[in-house]
Amino acid sequence: MALKKILIIGASGQIGSELALKLRELYGNENVIASDIKEGGEELMQSGPFEIADATDKDRIEQLVAEYKITDIYLMAAMLSATAERIPMKAWELNMDSLFIILNLAKENKIKKVFWPSSIAVFGPSTPKESTPQTTIMEPSTVYGISKQTGERWCEYYFNKFGVDVRSIRYPGIISYKTLPGGGTTDYAIEIFHEALKSGEYTSFLKEDTGLPMMYMDDAIKATVELMEAPPEKVKVRSSYNLAAMTFTPQELATEIKKHIPEFKLNYDPDYRQEIANSWPSSINDNSARNDWGWDHEYDLAKLTEKMLSGLRDEQQ
Ligand SMILES: NC(=O)c1ccc[n+]([C@@H]2O[C@H](COP(=O)([O-])OP(=O)(O)OC[C@H]3O[C@@H](n4cnc5c(N)ncnc54)[C@H](O)[C@@H]3O)[C@@H](O)[C@H]2O)c1
Repeated sequence: MALKKILIIGASGQIGSELALKLRELYGNENVIASDIKEGGEELMQSGPFEIADATDKDRIEQLVAEYKITDIYLMAAMLSATAERIPMKAWELNMDSLFIILNLAKENKIKKVFWPSSIAVFGPSTPKESTPQTTIMEPSTVYGISKQTGERWCEYYFNKFGVDVRSIRYPGIISYKTLPGGGTTDYAIEIFHEALKSGEYTSFLKEDTGLPMMYMDDAIKATVELMEAPPEKVKVRSSYNLAAMTFTPQELATEIKKHIPEFKLNYDPDYRQEIANSWPSSINDNSARNDWGWDHEYDLAKLTEKMLSGLRDEQQ
């Protein structure tokens, strides 16, 4: 088998940093090159090669691909939903320019395989809110959602026209404790755990009954690895796969946290992120991913809560 050489762009972020560690474990530390515009956590920096690189700098990315003989790229750099609403043109530039650089490298046969994450933000207010199907109305109302939907269209186009082996998942809100989240609308569901342990109290920027699709990090990483390992004929969706694990509201999450920290108090002070959340589905139908390449999740709300609290407690010691 030809050797896999992986480049992760945006490897210091919430998902990229844990993905890098998993891929290093699977394919060997030296075969997974992490890159970002900023350095990452200690484990990431010490476990294998790291390069400072801007995802929108085509020459720099091409240079890294040539230098390390890269075969697979995971493009994790992006501007997330809440931040993108504040600086729309910068978000558009980063999210689109970086994708074209990678898709064109694959089109020119300089790399073999691409992973590019999409998001539930591709859906909008006119999308069916419950059990949102794989194929449905998509009229995103956020800058971030528009960039992800456009990206999906281009991925499918590059697959159909040029045979580019690009694979993608519409991640729900990803919950983890190792690296802080990067400016998304589901960040409350991470901050709440930090504050529950620190002060016993948290003020949610989403209303109590706002249900959103969520997933524990380990499941997101497992899905990413499995999709990238799947034989090409099983990858039938070349825009992006719906993926689901659980849905909860701030109130339901607080109830679960109280089982561990009975005195925990949740307050509400919704801000501009409420409007973003209102435009997204509350649950996702991911039958295509389950049928095509065997996706199955492991973490539900109870297991996620336990894992977040014990993980954060261990880190504090
Ligand atoms: N975290 C989630 O809940 C979630 C949900 C849906 C989709 N996604 C998608 O998954 C991907 C990773 O998300 P994340 O949560 O890890 O984001 P993050 O913000 O935590 O990390 C993004 C990383 O990209 C880096 N970056 C920013 N600009 C860059 C540039 N010009 N060049 C190189 N690196 C740059 C940042 O320094 C950061 O380390 C993104 O495409 C995001 O849209 C995330």
